[in-house]
Amino acid sequence: MVLKLTKNKIIFTVLIIIAIIFDGWLIYILYHSLTYPDKYWDWDNIQTNNDTYFPKNFMWGTATAAHQVEGNNQNNNWYEWENLHKKDNISRIHNNDKSGRASNHWELYKQDIELMKDLGVGYYRFSVEWSKIEPKKGIINYEALEHYKKLCNKLIDSGLTPVITLHHFTHPIWFEKLGAFEKEENINHFIKFSETVFNYLAELVPIWCTINEPAVFVSQGYFNGVFPPGKKDPLLAGHVMKNLLNAHVKVYHHLKSLPRGKDKQIGLVKNITQFDPLRRWHVLDWYFSKKLNDVFTNSAITFLSEGIFRFYLPGMANINFVNKNAIKALDFIGLNYYSRMHTKGHFNSSLPFTFELRKDKDIQTDMPYAIYPEGFYRAIKSISQINAPIIITENGIADEDDSHRDLFINRYLYALSKSINDGYDVRGYFYWTLMDNFEWAEGYKMKFGLYEVDFNNQKRTLREGSKSLIDLINKPSFDKRGYIVSIGDEAPDLELDYIDGRRVKLSDLRGQVVVLQFTASWCSVCIQEMPHLEKEVWQRYKDKGLTLIGIDRDEPIDVVRDFQKKVGTTYPLALDLGAKHFSKFAHKNAGVTRNIVIDRNGKIVFLTRLFDKNEFQEMINKIESLIQDS
Ligand code: GAL
Repeated sequence: MVLKLTKNKIIFTVLIIIAIIFDGWLIYILYHSLTYPDKYWDWDNIQTNNDTYFPKNFMWGTATAAHQVEGNNQNNNWYEWENLHKKDNISRIHNNDKSGRASNHWELYKQDIELMKDLGVGYYRFSVEWSKIEPKKGIINYEALEHYKKLCNKLIDSGLTPVITLHHFTHPIWFEKLGAFEKEENINHFIKFSETVFNYLAELVPIWCTINEPAVFVSQGYFNGVFPPGKKDPLLAGHVMKNLLNAHVKVYHHLKSLPRGKDKQIGLVKNITQFDPLRRWHVLDWYFSKKLNDVFTNSAITFLSEGIFRFYLPGMANINFVNKNAIKALDFIGLNYYSRMHTKGHFNSSLPFTFELRKDKDIQTDMPYAIYPEGFYRAIKSISQINAPIIITENGIADEDDSHRDLFINRYLYALSKSINDGYDVRGYFYWTLMDNFEWAEGYKMKFGLYEVDFNNQKRTLREGSKSLIDLINKPSFDKRGYIVSIGDEAPDLELDYIDGRRVKLSDLRGQVVVLQFTASWCSVCIQEMPHLEKEVWQRYKDKGLTLIGIDRDEPIDVVRDFQKKVGTTYPLALDLGAKHFSKFAHKNAGVTRNIVIDRNGKIVFLTRLFDKNEFQEMINKIESLIQDS
C-alpha cells in the first residue's frame, strides 16, 4: 500500500512537472507565434507595378565597397586572409579566389559613373580603403585621398552625390596586428583616420556612413570564423560588437564637432537578417531565434535608442554596458536587408542550432537564403524603433542566371513602397550592387551586379533583370501631398464619362480654363468644399470660358447621382472606376479632395489638397487671372 502510494505520487509529480514544462512551452510558443506571425503576402493578387511609387526627392543609388571593386588591395586584413589563411592547405575563400584586380574600379571609375548615369540614380555609396589612405600607422598617403577626391568630383560633375562609408569590413594590416576592434583603445586610430578623410572630403560629401554592418563583421569574423580574423569566440564577439558600436558613437560625435560636421548627415549601417523558427511549433527553434535576434539586431537598436547594450548568449557571453552618448548618435540609420534565416534548435550543447533552407516553400537566391520581401518590410519596421530617418544602404540579389532578379526587384521595392505609404520615414534606396565583384568568402561566384562583369576583360553589360530597377527609378514620383504631376506639366489626357451619359476628352477642352475636382461621396472635406466650388467657381466663371468637372473616385453611377443631389451642385460629375484617372495625377492611395487647375494650353497651373480656405482663395485668384488673360 505504502509502496503503491509512493509510486502514484511519483507518477503524479512527474506528470505535473511535464504539464508545467509543456504548459510553459506552449504559452511561450503561442506568445511568440502571436507576436511574430509568419508574414506572407498574397503575391498572386498584388500588382507590384501598379502599386509601387516613390516620393519626389527620394534618393536612388547604388552601393559598392572598396575591397570588393577597386583592385590591388594588398595591405589589409582581407589580403592576408585571402593569401595566408589556409586550412589543410585549402583557402578560406570559395574556389580559392583572391580579390586581385577585382572590378578594377580604381582605374575604371569614370566609366562606372557613366553606368550609374544610365541607371538614372542620383547617389553613389562607396567605401574608402583605410589601408590605402594610411598604409602605415600615422602615415597618410595623400595620393590615395586625392584619388577619392577625384572620384567625388567626377560624381558631382555627372550630377551624382557621393556617400562615403569609412569602414566596410577592411582595415590596414597594422591595425589588425594591434588587435583591431578587439581592443577598446584601438578605437582612437579609427577616429583619427575618420577625421583625416572627413577633413579632406567633407566639402564634397553630404552623407557619411561610419561602419558597415557591425553584426556581420562580428558574426562572420568572430562566430563562424569565415571572415578575418577567423575566430570562433562568442565572448570576444560580444566585445568586438560593443567596441564597434562605441566606435560609431565616438566617430559620430567627433565628426559632428568638426567645422563641417553640423550640416552633414552621419549614420551607422545596420544589417538586419531575421532569425525565424524553422518549425513554428518547436520551442528550441523559437528560443534560439530569439537569442540570435537579440544579439545581432536588438542589441544595436536598444543601444542607439536607449544607450543600453546587452549581449547575452546563455553559457557563452553576457556583456552589459551603458553609454548614454549613444542615444540618437546618428542623423540617419542605414539599413541593409537581404533575407532571413530559419533556425533549427538541437538538444546538443556543441551544436545548439543550425540554419536550414525551405527549398520546397521559398524561392532561393544563389546565396544561402531565399527571396523574402515581407522581411524587408519587417526590417524597416524594426529599425524604425531607433526613430531616425532610414536610408536603405544595401539590398540586392545574387542571381547568376538572372532568372529572379526582376521578381526580386519588383517585390522588394513593392515592400519598400508599402512601408513608405504606411508612414515609415525611408529617404532613399541603394541597390547592392552596381556590378559583379569580389563577394568576400564567396569569392567571385556570387553575381550581385546590375551589370555583369567579364573578369577577363573587365567589360560591363547590363543584365536584363536590372531593367525593372531602371523602370522604377525613372517612374514618376509623388510629392508630400501625393501628387505625381507638378505645376508646369502638361495635364495627362483623360476620356471622361459624365453621369449624364456624355463623354468628354480633356484635350478637346483646349482653349478653356479647366478645373478638375477629385471627389467622393464618403469624403466629408469634399462635401464641405463642393458648395464653394459651385458658387465661387462654377457659377461665377462657367460662361466666361471655364469648365469645372468633378471626378468621383471609384464609385458606381447610382451612388454618384445621389451624391450630386445631396450636395446640391450643378457642375458635371464624371466617373472614375478603378481610380484610373486619379492615378494619372496623384499616387493611387492618396486622398481626395483635390483640385487641378489647367490653363487654356493644357498646362497645370495650380494644385490644391484638402479644403484650406487660404489655398482655395489663391486658386480663385489664379482662375480669375487666367480668365482675365483671354
Ligand atoms: C553585405 C555587405 C556587402 C555585400 C553584401 C552581399 O553584408 O555589406 O559588402 O557583400 O552583403 O552579400
